[in-house]
This record gives sequence, structure tokens and C-alpha cells, in this order.
Amino acid sequence: MNLILLTSVDSTNNYLQELSEKGLAEEGTIVLSLEQSKGKGQRGSDWESKPGFGLYVSILLKPKDWTVEKQYILNKAVAVGVAWYIDSKTDKDVRIKWPNDILIAEKKVAGILIENVIRGEMVSSVVAGIGVNLNQNDFTREFETPATSLKIITGKNFDPETEAVELFREVWKAYCQIIAGESETMEEHYSHYLFKRGERALFIKGEGLFYGVLKSVDASGAALIEENGRTIRATHPGTRFYLRDKRFRN
Ligand code: BTN
Repeated sequence: MNLILLTSVDSTNNYLQELSEKGLAEEGTIVLSLEQSKGKGQRGSDWESKPGFGLYVSILLKPKDWTVEKQYILNKAVAVGVAWYIDSKTDKDVRIKWPNDILIAEKKVAGILIENVIRGEMVSSVVAGIGVNLNQNDFTREFETPATSLKIITGKNFDPETEAVELFREVWKAYCQIIAGESETMEEHYSHYLFKRGERALFIKGEGLFYGVLKSVDASGAALIEENGRTIRATHPGTRFYLRDKRFRN
């Protein structure tokens, strides 16, 4: 592990990507910033990154001979690693909301933004950006998935540098497992943590809502959802869980 600690940056993902492109970062490099001025979330959203509240890190992975089809198991491994880390902080149930949000009690405690560099048919490098809500006491903004923090869950305060090292360890452990060919075991870990697996849940697709039962997430990252006796194969973000914060509903 090679830790780069920054006080401020636009986005740790951008910073690490640039280092990697210039050949200045090895696999296993982790960038931690105490704040981000342009923290990036999924689907072009921003990730609020004020100092003292969250953990903002990016980890560089460079799997060898890794074909593009295998990028999904990599995404799952990163999510499992983050789930292991969060699990080590609380007795409460931790879940992975398909594809890779980390929840405690149906609220999002961590988000993941994975950015791959693809060359031809191969994944040449992966920047796994991870944001963990550490010390927030409350959230007033509206999120598609209601938010929580480790502070709200445990009552404790967390130091970003200490947490970055612990988080890295768990993500690295999961990564090493798939590199060692243990993809099936990783699928089992992911399935163990999968939010609402086998339960009736509300999904949003386009403008419409529908009820379905998430059976599993296949090797290409698609969700297999049973709806009215038939199984549909759904891709993210076209189809997503609908958990909008009730506090903000009219
Ligand atoms: C999400 O929307 O759930 C993904 C959030 C990912 C945020 C992290 S914070 C560290 C890294 N740098 C970024 O700009 N984004 C990720």
C-alpha cells in the first residue's frame, strides 16, 4: 500500500487517474483527501466532500490479463471489501444495494464510483473511488437513497487517515481473492450482502414504478428481478431501487 494524503483536491478519482496515466502510481496506491472541491458521484452527480465529515479515497488496481467481461466481478469485489470494512464498525446489518451502494438499516453509508480504463478487450486500470459518511450528525439534503453515517450509527467520531488504512485492507483482501481465481466465492459474498434479495421491493424504471423480487445479480452485473411470475434482466441505472427519503415526500 502506498498512501498519498492530500488536504484538498478536486476529486481523488481524477487525481489518481492522472497519476496513473503519467505512470506515476503503482497498483495499490491509495489517495486520501480531507476534502474535495468537485467530488464525483454516480450518474454525473456530485459527492458532498466537506472536511471533517467524510472519508474520500481512491484506490488504483491494475489486474493483469483482465478481460472487459471480468470488470463486473471486480466491481463486486470492491463493494464486498467496503461492506467488510463497514461491517467491522457496527453490529447492525450491512447490505449492498445493487449495484454497489453500502447500506445500514436501508440508509446509504458509503458510495462507490469505479472508473475503468479499457484498452481493446482488456481492463488496463481501475480507479475505485469510495466515499464513506463518517462524522455527519444529520443530512438535510434530499438524496435518492436516504443517508446515514458511522457517527449516527455508532455515536463515535472517526479519523479519516485511520479509516482509510482499514478500508484499504478490506478492499485489497477482496481484490486479492478474485485475482487468485476465487470469483465464485466472491459471488457468494456479494449475494450474502445483497439488499432485499428474495424480498418484494419497489423499483423505478423510467417514469414508472413496479414491484419485484430481486433474485440475484448475474456475472455481467445485471439484476434478475421476478415480476408477475416472469424474470426480467434489468441493467443499472435504467432500473433502480426506489427508496426515496420519506421525509421529503409530499
Ligand atoms: C455514489 O454516487 O454513490 C458514488 C460516490 C463516490 C464518492 C467518492 S469520494 C472519493 C472518490 N472521488 C470522487 O470524486 N468520488 C469518489
